[in-house]
Amino acid sequence: MIKTENQMLIIFGASGDLTARKLVPALFRLFQENQLPENFIVLGVSRSYMSDDEFRKKVITESSYLKTAPNLKQDVLKEFAEKFFYEDVGTEYDTSYKALEERITSLNGKHHTDENYMFYLSTPPSLYEAIAKNLYAQELNRSRGVGFKRLIVEKPFGYDLESAKQLNKGLQRYFKESQIYRIDHYLGKETVQNLLVTRFANSIFEPLWNRNYIDRIEITNAENGGVGDRGGYYDGSGALRDMFQNHLLQIVSLIVMEPPIDANAQEIRNEKVKALRSLRIMRNDKELHQHTIRAQYVSSTVNGEEVKGYREEKGVHPNSTTETYAAIKFFVDNWRWKDVPFYVRTAKRMPTKVTEVVIHFKAPHHQIFKESGAFNKDNKLIIRIQPDEGILVKFGVKVPGQGFKVERANLDFYYSSLAETNVMQAYERLLLDAMQGDATLYARADEVEAAWNFVDPILKYWKKGKDVRVYGYAAGAWGPENADDLIEGPGTWRNPGPNLTDDPGFCVIH
Ligand code: BG6
Repeated sequence: MIKTENQMLIIFGASGDLTARKLVPALFRLFQENQLPENFIVLGVSRSYMSDDEFRKKVITESSYLKTAPNLKQDVLKEFAEKFFYEDVGTEYDTSYKALEERITSLNGKHHTDENYMFYLSTPPSLYEAIAKNLYAQELNRSRGVGFKRLIVEKPFGYDLESAKQLNKGLQRYFKESQIYRIDHYLGKETVQNLLVTRFANSIFEPLWNRNYIDRIEITNAENGGVGDRGGYYDGSGALRDMFQNHLLQIVSLIVMEPPIDANAQEIRNEKVKALRSLRIMRNDKELHQHTIRAQYVSSTVNGEEVKGYREEKGVHPNSTTETYAAIKFFVDNWRWKDVPFYVRTAKRMPTKVTEVVIHFKAPHHQIFKESGAFNKDNKLIIRIQPDEGILVKFGVKVPGQGFKVERANLDFYYSSLAETNVMQAYERLLLDAMQGDATLYARADEVEAAWNFVDPILKYWKKGKDVRVYGYAAGAWGPENADDLIEGPGTWRNPGPNLTDDPGFCVIH
C-alpha cells in the first residue's frame, strides 16, 4: 500500500451540497478502511458563519448522507467528526485570506499535518481564479521547501473552448499545472479504469482493436432521472456540456488511445490527449446537421406516474431549447480508426439508468453460414460501466441438431462475482489518489481543451446553425424517433436493460 502523507484538506464551498453528499461520505469510507494518514484534518471554508460544531453536525452527525453508511458506529463517527473544522471567509471569496492562512497555520501546528495542504474548490467555477489568486497572495501555493500544496477543481472546466482556456490560464497563473487536479468522477469508476486493463493487459482484444475488425463503436449513457432541482444550472448547460464534453469524451479517449509506454500519469495522459486531438472536428453545417441530434423530454406517464416535461421543471425557461438528449456520430482521423463511426449518446429521462460501451465487430470476411441468419448478428464486446458492472462477449454458437443453425451466446463477467474485493466509490478513489499525488485519473489542461475543441463547433451550430432542430421525446422513452437515423446501414442503437445480459429493446415503460 502506498503511504499517504499527513495532510489537511481545505474545502472551499464546504456548506454546499457536494461536500455533504459526496466528499464527506468518501472521506468517511477512507477513514473506516484505515486509508487516511495518521494526521489528517479537514477545514471547511465557506461564506456563511458556522462554528466547528455546527459544521460537524451539518456534514457528519446530522447528515442524511452518512446515516445510511454501512457498518456505522456512533463512536467511530464521533472520532471522524473531530477531524473537521470550519472557517468562513466573510461575505465573498474574493477577499484577503490572511485570517484563513492564520487558521490553517494554527491547525497545522496543532495537528501536525506537515504543511501538506490540499485545496478542494467546490464553488461555482467563476470563483476558481479568485480563490487561487487569494491563496497565492498568502503564499499558500508554495511549498517553501516543506509540504505539498495541491488544488483540486470540480467540473465544469469552462463553458466552451475560450472560457476553458481562460480558466486554465487563470489557475496556472497561481498554481503550477502539476499542482492542479481536475476531477472527473467517471475516471474514478472502476469500470472506466478497467477499459485500460481490458485493452492493455490482454492479448485477445488489442489485436482486434482497430478498423480491420471493428465495424462501429457505440456508447450509451442513460439516466432515468430528470434534472431534479438542478434545473437552473442545467438549463444553462445541457447534456453536451454536462456529460459529453467531460465524462463521455474521457471514455472515448480510453477507447481510442494508443498503448502508453507504461502506466504512469504522464504517459497515459499524453496518449489520451493525442486521442482527443484525433477526433475529426465537424466544421460544416451539413455534417453537423447529419451527425448530431439534440432533443428534450416532454411530459409523459412512466410506471403509471405523471412525469413533467423538461420545460416544466423548476428553474428551466418555459421556451428553453437546452438539450436533455444528445447523440453524436463522429470519426477519428488516425491510422487505427480511419472510417470507423463512433456513436455516443447521453440523456436524462430514459427508460433506465445505464452506461455501456459496445464494440461491434465486423462480420466474418467470408460467410459460410449465410442461410442461418447469423450474418446480421454481429460479435459484440459490451463493457458495462454501470450498473450490473461487467463485460459481455456475444459470439456465435451452433444450435444443436442437424445443419448449421447459428445463435448468439453470451460469455459474461460480473464485478459482483469478485465479492471479496472492496470496490472503491469514485470520489473515494480520486480523493485518495490526489492525497498521494497520483494524477493519472485527473484531467490535464490540454485534455480538457482538446475535448472542448471538438465540442465547440457542435454547440455553435446548435446555437445558430442552419436547419437546427430540437426534437421532443416522451419522458421514459429511448430518445426521439429519428435517433436511429444517425446509425449507418441497417443497425440501430442497442437499448440496454438494467442487467448486462438483458436483450436490447427491454423497456420499463407502462
Ligand atoms: C454529473 C452530471 O457530472 O454526472 C449529472 O452533472 C449527472 O447531470 C451525473 O447526473 C451522472 O453521474 P453518475 O455517476 O450517476 O453516472
